[in-house]
Amino acid sequence: MSSWCLLCLGALCLLSSVWAERRKLNPEHLLIITAATEETDGFKRFMRTSREFNYTVKVLGLGEDWKGGDVARTVGGGQKVRWLKKELQQHSDNKDMIIMFVDSYDVIFASGPDELLSKFSRLGHRVLFSAEGFCWPDHRLASKYPQVHSGKRYLNSGGFMGFASDLSAIVQQWKYKDDDDDQLFYTRIYLDQNQRTKFNMTLDHRSRIFQNLNGAIDEVVLKFERAKVRLRNVAYDTLPVVIHGNGPTKLQLNYLGNYIPTVWTYEHGCGICDDDLLLFTDVADEDMPLVYFAVFIEHPSPFMEEFLERLTTLNYPRSRLRLFLHNNVVYHERHIQQFWERHRSLFPDAVLVGPEENLQEDKARTMAIEACKKNPECDYYFSMDSDVALINPDTLRILMEENKSVIAPMLSKHGKLWSNFWGALSPEGFYSRSEDYIEIVQGKRIGLWNVPYITQVYLIKGSVLRSKLSQVNLFVDEGMDPDMVFCRTIRDQGIFMFVSNRDEFGRLVTSSNFNTSRLHPDMWQIFDNPVDWREKYVHENYSKIFEDGTNIVEQPCPDVYWFPAFSDKMCDQLVETMEDLGTWSGGNHKDERLAGGYENVPTVDIHMNQIGFEKEWLKFLKDYLVPVTEKLYPGYYPKAQAIMNFVVRYRPDEQPFLRPHHDSSTFTINIALNSKNIDYEGGGCRFLRYDCKVESPRKGWSFMHPGRLTHYHEGLPTTKGTRYIMVSFVDP
Ligand SMILES: *[C@@H]1O[C@H](CO)[C@@H](O)[C@H](O)[C@H]1NC(C)=O
Ligand SMILES: *[C@@H]1O[C@H](CO)[C@@H](O)[C@H](O)[C@H]1NC(C)=O
Ligand SMILES: *[C@@H]1O[C@H](CO)[C@@H](O)[C@H](O)[C@H]1NC(C)=O
Ligand SMILES: *[C@@H]1O[C@H](CO)[C@@H](O)[C@H](O)[C@H]1NC(C)=O
Ligand SMILES: *[C@@H]1O[C@H](CO)[C@@H](O)[C@H](O)[C@H]1NC(C)=O
Repeated sequence: MSSWCLLCLGALCLLSSVWAERRKLNPEHLLIITAATEETDGFKRFMRTSREFNYTVKVLGLGEDWKGGDVARTVGGGQKVRWLKKELQQHSDNKDMIIMFVDSYDVIFASGPDELLSKFSRLGHRVLFSAEGFCWPDHRLASKYPQVHSGKRYLNSGGFMGFASDLSAIVQQWKYKDDDDDQLFYTRIYLDQNQRTKFNMTLDHRSRIFQNLNGAIDEVVLKFERAKVRLRNVAYDTLPVVIHGNGPTKLQLNYLGNYIPTVWTYEHGCGICDDDLLLFTDVADEDMPLVYFAVFIEHPSPFMEEFLERLTTLNYPRSRLRLFLHNNVVYHERHIQQFWERHRSLFPDAVLVGPEENLQEDKARTMAIEACKKNPECDYYFSMDSDVALINPDTLRILMEENKSVIAPMLSKHGKLWSNFWGALSPEGFYSRSEDYIEIVQGKRIGLWNVPYITQVYLIKGSVLRSKLSQVNLFVDEGMDPDMVFCRTIRDQGIFMFVSNRDEFGRLVTSSNFNTSRLHPDMWQIFDNPVDWREKYVHENYSKIFEDGTNIVEQPCPDVYWFPAFSDKMCDQLVETMEDLGTWSGGNHKDERLAGGYENVPTVDIHMNQIGFEKEWLKFLKDYLVPVTEKLYPGYYPKAQAIMNFVVRYRPDEQPFLRPHHDSSTFTINIALNSKNIDYEGGGCRFLRYDCKVESPRKGWSFMHPGRLTHYHEGLPTTKGTRYIMVSFVDP
């Protein structure tokens, strides 16, 4: 034999592979056993991963009462051994069968039966328990454990496997109470040298199969490879098959569970993106789920009218919505009132609670959710705060289709990383950034994400409120913010919270610099909420200026361009703000700059800096008018400086016209703020050099013309009413 070996290089490999061949275990003889009394979200995840890899699973204990103690906080779990003892009796003589016992609430599979069995076979033992770095529940036993050179030394009973006959013989020794500790039971057997040898027992010290996460979070990483992802233990360079979020590592398991098991690509969703959606196509309106829709206005929020208006454009049968609206802000009462006068009929049986009721946020949230909890017909509870701009009218349906207990649409502040979810939690229970947070917010990874914290807008199943959440207070806890209490409670109940970025839903509105002492405070929001600002204040056809073939820009006189700039709202609110201030002046304060070698042309006006709007105007100039200039006067790149920005008022009895003059600008912006023949008669502008008049200014449209030399011009007389224009001298 040995001489034969010498003759043949690699004979050893040949021999050992022959040996392995003999030991090749048949996946059809593998049975996974787990114990679960309830189908928690964690259990469903476990079953899903088992199905994905085609494991055969037997579940013990479903529907039975749990008597095994509070294993999350203390010892216990004996009930699981009792069930297993009974179950394994029928397999006690089976020499081929391999049994794996695993917990299920906090376990996922990362690979399939073939890999599992080949790894088990290579370990060369008949019984294998998972290992961890803590000696629990009796640390005094630590010294009795065999030494290990590398890897985890102590037994964990959350996962073990072996031949059915051996495991059966082991669990037949159980004769304890249901709340006695299962891990202690297996530990004692393992530490008994006779039994260890008899059952050929060992521990999976280096996580070849079982990865317990407790105490080992830093050892594991997700390795992304094109369309696949796999969890790797980098301490031992192994690819574990069973991942167990034991002890305080549940949230880490939730995170990993977003990627495992999955063939996962950046383009095509993730492993937990169920495509067996709960669909509502062809469901008659009256058969749609009943949704308790709660809206919370807890602090002054910009764009409130638009927010309220969007409640009416939600694509959902109104008869199946029950509106609850809590407004805690006196300033917003006017908006609610206007909204309600117009849309009351859309929301039958609505409940409105105003600031006069002095109901605190946590109490209001409790009141709203209790209404759904108490009504067995309430299918969903949908909660939304006033800083949510839900642009996608189908949001409610889309979230329902995902069929999760608790789910939020992913929203973020425009162009920012601030969102309505947290990817991870710090040990103290506060925000912590997950590795994938930025990619999710920016939409580079698309999917449904199991996260520890969601806020501002979410959907909860009524059935979940009436079962797992029936006994808990979701929002009230002394000294804690309601959103923190809410998420903690949901987590503690073992309910998964998901955030979806599979669709575009909208954005978050920033309310931190919202100054309600201004007449129209939204006008000042161009910095904080540029998208909302644009929708409200920029002319709806402004963007057509940059589209080919629309010819929206007109040229009524040589080098005088005319294009849409402001929305009607912007025009009206700017005029109202000026009139509210009322300090119209004859314009002498600007004589010197205006004169600038030309003429002294006083107007009746109010400057942007007098209403504190200068910065905002310059921002508008830069973001909206400079691009127009660059298009219309190619090669000219404005500095976009402007110190003369003002609203002019023309009236027959005050100042009806402006005599011919040059502007001290490179170019001038002149936006009509109201409508000819409605608000005033006459008006317009004449460019003397070309003898060209524009006599019918359009509200919200801007003229843009060179200021000096060529475009000597005059303001034509306003003959009736009051005419307002906004003027800006750019690059003086
Ligand atoms: C599971 O079984 C199905 C049907 O037999 C098969 O199509 C699929 O490829 C299997 N999955 C794995 C991971 O082996
Ligand atoms: C376990 O069994 C294998 C093969 O059956 C044997 O090689 C090994 O020595 C045994 N280990 C122990 C600790 O008994
Ligand atoms: C929706 O979820 C419930 C509860 O988890 C489940 O029973 C049901 O089968 C799911 N429906 C679909 C269509 O997936
Ligand atoms: C809020 O607006 C008022 C009146 O318009 C102004 O006087 C005040 O300075 C503003 N406050 C802030 C913080 O901008
Ligand atoms: C924008 O353009 C469309 C199509 O030309 C027109 O119907 C609409 O009235 C315009 N909007 C405004 C505010 O002028």
